[in-house]
Amino acid sequence: MFTNMGDREAQLRAFDETKLGVKGIVDAGVTTIPSIFIHPISKRLLPQKTSTSNDARFQFPIIDLCVSENDLDHKNKVVDKIREALETWGFFQVINHGISDEVMEDTLKGVKGFFELDDEVKKGYYSRDYANNKVAYHSNTDLYTGPATNWRDTIACTMVPNPPHPDEFPPPCREIVPKYSSQVMKLGKVLFGLLSESLGLQQTNLCDIGCAEGLNVVGQYYPACPQPELTMGTAKHADSVFLTILLQDQIGGLQVLHHDHWVDVPPTPGALVINIGDHLQLVSNDKFKSVEHRVLANYKGPRVSVASFFTTFYQETSTKFGPIKELLSEENPPKYREITAKEYNTYFLEKGLDGTSPLLHFRL
Ligand code: OGA
Ligand code: NI
Repeated sequence: MFTNMGDREAQLRAFDETKLGVKGIVDAGVTTIPSIFIHPISKRLLPQKTSTSNDARFQFPIIDLCVSENDLDHKNKVVDKIREALETWGFFQVINHGISDEVMEDTLKGVKGFFELDDEVKKGYYSRDYANNKVAYHSNTDLYTGPATNWRDTIACTMVPNPPHPDEFPPPCREIVPKYSSQVMKLGKVLFGLLSESLGLQQTNLCDIGCAEGLNVVGQYYPACPQPELTMGTAKHADSVFLTILLQDQIGGLQVLHHDHWVDVPPTPGALVINIGDHLQLVSNDKFKSVEHRVLANYKGPRVSVASFFTTFYQETSTKFGPIKELLSEENPPKYREITAKEYNTYFLEKGLDGTSPLLHFRL
């Protein structure tokens, strides 16, 4: 049925005011999804997914980091594999990354535990004021600006540079999120070292320009959906940040756009999914691309994932970043102007996940 904009706006407000997110709708026992969640058919189906499983071009890269190994030969191979993965996919999975299975499992459990708290307790954490709440639970970060609503709820924790006070965390996340976050920060620094080298730079280069200055650990909760083919868990987007380290459970649904195909990122026990975002595309002057991905809604859920985003997001910082000087030459002049993370992320949020790249706005 035709829904005019005014209607949609009112429905979004009513949904927001429940403070119970998509899970609240599912708990109410709906068998058809409310219209605000219905995505246009063109956005859901295209490009078509065809069978890719027997085609070597579509084998999702998996890299053994062996972070504890001090073998130069091994490291150089890893640097080459990362370069290849980022030039072709923008994504890869890592194993032997130094974060234990137990910590990963407890992190997923902690996030799930938060979303399964009693409604009244959970509502107390609901907020869209990301700048002033270091722990903010809400549904659809771009609810009022995005073109369609996603079947997903979120709890975002700003961990670096200034972590929340322990009391600010909901009890299921209080111990495990800081523990996971500090291990993710360690891994992030290792990855920025390897990424710097894969760009032909000094190992410390990306950390020196501020890539590891901010870290946000964001729990995503995708409730089981009665009509998953009509909506999306997360609409097509590229991440705004420098780097994302994603922990996903075994349900599946994450897909990466590769050679015009949506390719599944197979849930792999013990692995983490790594991808670069727009900030890194910008500082690499387009050598590495921030690649589009999406999450399908599913019948089987809830699906839980934890995305750790390296950026200072909306915080005021003096750090500006632009294309790295060492990468530039007469043939490769800077393609972007210098910006702060806040400037980029504010524009990203205002624009919403509309399927086009916010990077274009910052191009010279
Ligand atoms: C994101 C994202 C993927 C997932 O949060 O930006 O792409 O599997 N998440 O939840
Ligand atoms: Ni993403």
